[in-house]
Formats: sequence, structure tokens, C-alpha cells
Amino acid sequence: MNIILLGPPGAGKGTQARHLVETRNMIQLSTGDMLREAKDSGTEMGKIVADVMARGDLVTDEIVIGLIREKLEGDKAGGFIFDGFPRTLGQADALAELLSEKGENLDAVIEMQVDDAALVSRITGRSTCSNCGEVYHDETKPWPADGKCSNCGGGSQKRRADDNEESLKQRLMEYYKKTSPLIGYYYAKGQLSTVDGLGEIEGVQAAISDILG
Ligand code: AP5
Repeated sequence: MNIILLGPPGAGKGTQARHLVETRNMIQLSTGDMLREAKDSGTEMGKIVADVMARGDLVTDEIVIGLIREKLEGDKAGGFIFDGFPRTLGQADALAELLSEKGENLDAVIEMQVDDAALVSRITGRSTCSNCGEVYHDETKPWPADGKCSNCGGGSQKRRADDNEESLKQRLMEYYKKTSPLIGYYYAKGQLSTVDGLGEIEGVQAAISDILG
């Protein structure tokens, strides 16, 4: 089963993708994570994308499509979760082509709806485990009091360079201008389902599970 998690920054795409990896043996393909890896390892591509990401702008279609193309060559296990990809109509067309070349289908597109006011607090309160990437939030899922990640026991957390109000404004602008047209695109293809992303994490998990069957 191959699915897309679609939603604005902070909607909970990464949080839900990690749950699907654990419960359904799916592979999470987060273009944001791939780009951050390239940035941290100092590759040429990483240097090019660093400023773009810090500003909250979108990286070029060519770069992200290349990243996804490479990952589709790897193990597909229980299927792919596209997290943060596609983000433009060009990326959506490219994904359709790549999947068809591999004889694969897109089984569901799940739009996670969260209003903008909630996104500010979600983004500014977010941290992740430096070791395994488990996602935390200062208020709703605080870093454990014993200082150790509840998932892997790692001892440090980190925050993203673009998790501030200024970058978030630009990320939201990019979302509404370039990514939200995908809602109509997938609706027209009969592939769109919607969940209320404002509920508790477990409630959103259950809603997604109902859609996937
Ligand atoms: P990316 O890394 O994809 O970031 P994003 O889309 O902005 O999404 P986030 O990771 O910020 O949020 P999320 O929806 O995963 O939320 P999370 O689960 O962490 O992209 C970063 C940048 O890379 C882009 O700006 C762009 O520059 C570039 N890029 C990436 N892909 C690209 C592409 N395809 N094309 C071009 N450029 C690209 O949750 C957020 C917080 O909320 C957490 O603290 C979590 O604990 C909490 N939370 C989650 N769910 C709930 C809930 N139900 N209730 C309460 N709290 C919750």
C-alpha cells in the first residue's frame, strides 16, 4: 500500500508516519528528512538547499523528485508513506509517473486538516530525539523527565532551524500557494480522504487506520 500524508507544516505528518512504520511495516519517505540529512552531511546539494529551507521556501522540484526516485529503487516493505512529498503539481505528476513505471499504485491520499493558530504552537514547541527522530512537543508530549528518549533511550533532543514563527509564515505561504492545489487534484482523481488533525495523536491514528482498513 502506498499513501501520501498531505498537510501544512506541523499538521502531524511525521508523527503519524512513524506510527504507520511501526504498526504496518511501511517505509517513511520524508523529503524534509532527506534534505536535512544532505544539509547536515555537507554535500553540494545540502549546501544549496540549506538557505532555502531556513527561509521556509520550497526546494526545486528537480532535487526532490531525484531524491524520491532513488528511494523508490530500495526496499518497499509494507509500502511507502510519502511525507511532505509531493508539494507541487509538478511533483504530483512526477510521482504518478514514477509509480506507474514501477507497476505500483497510489492507494490513498490523506489530508490532515489543522488550523493555522494551532500550527504556530506545534512548530515552536517541537523537538526530536537526536538519535532516533522520535517527535516531542513541549506541552503535548514533553521530553521525558529522566532525560532519556522513550523510544530509544537516547540522551539528547534537537530543534529545527526553520521551527520559528518567521520561517513558519513563509512555509505556510508556500503551502497555500503551491501545495494546497493538490487537495483538488487528488479529490478529482477520487483518491482524497480527510482527517481532523486537531484531535489527540491517538485519535488521529485511529482515523487514519479506519481509512486504510
Ligand atoms: P518538512 O520537513 O517536510 O516540514 P513540514 O512539511 O513543514 O512539516 P513538519 O515536519 O514541520 O510537520 P509535520 O506535519 O511532520 O508535523 P509533526 O508530526 O512533526 O519540510 C521542511 C522543508 O524542506 C520545507 O520547508 C522545504 O524547504 C523543504 N522540502 C521538504 N519537502 C519538500 C518538497 N517535496 N518540495 C520542496 N521542498 C521541500 O508534528 C509537529 C508537532 O506537533 C510535534 O511537536 C508533534 O509532537 C505535535 N503534534 C503532532 N500531532 C499532534 C496532535 N494530534 N496533537 C497535538 N500535538 C501534535
